[in-house]
Amino acid sequence: MDILITGGSGGIGLAMVKTLLKEMPDTKVHATWRSQEPVFQHHNLTWHSLDLTSEPQIQSLSNRLPKLDWLINAAGVLHNQHHQPEKTIQRVEPDFFLENLKINTLPTLLLARYFQSALKQSESSRFAVISARVGSISDNYLGGWISYRCAKAALNMALKTLSIEWKRTVPNCTVLALHPGTTDTRLSKPFQRNVSPEKLFTPEKTASLLLTIINESSSDYSGKFLAYDGIELPW
Ligand SMILES: NC(=O)c1ccc[n+]([C@@H]2O[C@H](COP(=O)([O-])OP(=O)(O)OC[C@H]3O[C@@H](n4cnc5c(N)ncnc54)[C@H](OP(=O)(O)O)[C@@H]3O)[C@@H](O)[C@H]2O)c1
Repeated sequence: MDILITGGSGGIGLAMVKTLLKEMPDTKVHATWRSQEPVFQHHNLTWHSLDLTSEPQIQSLSNRLPKLDWLINAAGVLHNQHHQPEKTIQRVEPDFFLENLKINTLPTLLLARYFQSALKQSESSRFAVISARVGSISDNYLGGWISYRCAKAALNMALKTLSIEWKRTVPNCTVLALHPGTTDTRLSKPFQRNVSPEKLFTPEKTASLLLTIINESSSDYSGKFLAYDGIELPW
């Protein structure tokens, strides 16, 4: 198999890269990094530099990978140097809202556009993206995290819409939106205080749970929003 993991340098992304190389030794893994190439190397692993906000870079990578079995997008942003997720509408700022869309939503659409033909070459392919339960509109009981929630809700709509189109045009490909559960990474670090230890997963545990779901999802699952335990989440 040929697998591409975008955001492969992140907490969950890198754990997925390592798990795949260990559990599926015949698989060729391509993984991407943006700010710093990870030190981890393996004979079946190729690192590519990729800024997912750059359409030309996504297109150029797609030209180098003409056949893919799985594409997993594990990139995302919740906070940055200057912004924390908003607790109230009074904190909403256009730049941070747009950054959320640029990183959490648009790359998935561009990856689907440019890798459609590569995913069509496989007998049974997967296009899986790490979303978040907070992107569910009907599951929103707490409010807050406005830009992130909006971007993940838009991501979910993008994946649902894509799954409908690809049922006709790329029927061999299963499209999945995945919720990883709270995982101990740089992204969740500032928000772990109220999470009980059994609910805070290691990246390795999350990677293993999500890869099992991706592996076992047949085309009947295309267009579903699934949590780490395989339970279907409401949109
Ligand atoms: N951790 C959790 O509890 C949790 C819960 C729900 C959902 N999620 C979702 O899970 C996914 C993975 O998050 P994580 O916890 O592994 O976070 P993380 O450790 O912060 O990793 C995020 C990854 O996204 C990459 N990235 C950000 N902007 C990018 C860009 N413009 N181009 C390319 N790559 C970019 C980062 O690259 P750099 O290293 O270069 O910045 C990094 O590799 C995200 O979509 C997140 O929303 C996480």
